[in-house]
Amino acid sequence: MAITLIKGGTVVSSTGRSKQDVLIDGQTIAAVLDPSDTSLAADLTERADTVVDATGKYVIPGGIDAHTHMEMPFGGTFASDTFETGTRAAAWGGTTTIIDFAVQNKGGSVKDAIEQWHQKAAGECAIDYAFHQILGDINEQSLIDLRSLAAEGVTSFKMFTAYPGVFYSTDDQIFRAMQVAAEEGLLPMMHAENGPVIDVIAEQLVKEGKTSPYYHGIARPWEMEEEATHRTIMLSRVAHSPVYIVHVTAKQAMRQVQAARADGHLVFGESCPQYLYQSLEEQLGAPGFEGAKYVCSPPLRSKEEGHQEDLWMALRTDALSVVATDHCPFCMKQKQMGANDFRKIPNGMGLVEHRMDLMYQGTVNGRISLERFVDITSTGPARIFGLYGRKGVIAPGADGDVVVYDPNGSTTIGINDTHHMNLDYSNFEGWHIDGHVDTVLSRGKVVVDETGYVGTKGDGEFVACKPSQMIG
Ligand code: URP
Ligand code: ZN
Ligand code: ZN
Repeated sequence: MAITLIKGGTVVSSTGRSKQDVLIDGQTIAAVLDPSDTSLAADLTERADTVVDATGKYVIPGGIDAHTHMEMPFGGTFASDTFETGTRAAAWGGTTTIIDFAVQNKGGSVKDAIEQWHQKAAGECAIDYAFHQILGDINEQSLIDLRSLAAEGVTSFKMFTAYPGVFYSTDDQIFRAMQVAAEEGLLPMMHAENGPVIDVIAEQLVKEGKTSPYYHGIARPWEMEEEATHRTIMLSRVAHSPVYIVHVTAKQAMRQVQAARADGHLVFGESCPQYLYQSLEEQLGAPGFEGAKYVCSPPLRSKEEGHQEDLWMALRTDALSVVATDHCPFCMKQKQMGANDFRKIPNGMGLVEHRMDLMYQGTVNGRISLERFVDITSTGPARIFGLYGRKGVIAPGADGDVVVYDPNGSTTIGINDTHHMNLDYSNFEGWHIDGHVDTVLSRGKVVVDETGYVGTKGDGEFVACKPSQMIG
């Protein structure tokens, strides 16, 4: 077994930081050592097969992106990143685990969806991967199938109050699935927007000739996110089930999560970098068809309304617990499907490579502490989705998923030649980060170093999720 020593760095966890060396034996962290024992450090340096010099750098647990959609069939096309290209890009950016959504479409089965997602991902991935289940058709059989999900290593499932005719579920369907979740120890997740009302507004806008990408945002007011978030939380309370609200964008929706948590309910909230940095006016409202690149649901919110400040504060105080990407990229040709009607623009943005950098920048900008950065990008999602211990922590027995991050480096997010997603533009093109992902180890193997990506397709393996470690 190869021995790797990461020496001279500052190990940052969700609760603190200190100068420590990290010893990895094969795929697993064997020890976290006090570097003041110079004779031990010298001996290990001598014996290690690989020594990573982390002097002056942060050593953090590999990122966990708890919300990705590789090759997702959506909006009449497929998300442009495959498991191969998307996980490689993730590795470049310091993410060492993704949790992707296996899709049950209308008329399809839950069991087939999981099987299909295994087929898509097996042997393709650069980093480890786990699955959530999308429930796109809640019926007697899918409720039965939910009961065997945990045995497959899938302990969370997503439902939608949005997208009528596609993934939309009614309140009674949602309630029944939540009751099963409560019985089986599963974690329901919700895309919370009032889809039927949004569809009415969208149709009215198009009839008025308001067809540009900007109107995607106008058709999806924050009130409809707040309403669906509130409804979801109330349904979960009556079903005695926990619930995780994905991609929270509006301060009012966040406050629903915050209030439920303060009331002692097991409600978790996630946001995404685009909602923390970008806006309806600046990106979605960009001239011409440029805004199509930023069409995602829920939409980017108005800067004037002050959502970004409140979302950052919510991350700081744990009202929101996770930052994931909702990575669901579509190339410009695919976005062109909605050139004359924003409703036909495939919804989604490409971010899996940039999440760690963008959230690190939050520490530079004084929005969150370094420890909180580690918590919301790695430790928190590991705990919520039942991966903690193996993932989300630098400690003996954990997988050797480690990122060496240079606070004195810099990164400019760029187009084709400087990002690695299968996407012909970048959603953060030209944005500057005051830090740099230097070295990435996935289960003890260096997959990114100063020369770039040095891993191999198929390095990544399926990781079974246990029941959420936050539910108990
Ligand atoms: O626009 C989005 N969010 N696309 C991906 C599907 C979803 O709702 O998460
Ligand atoms: Zn969603
Ligand atoms: Zn999503």
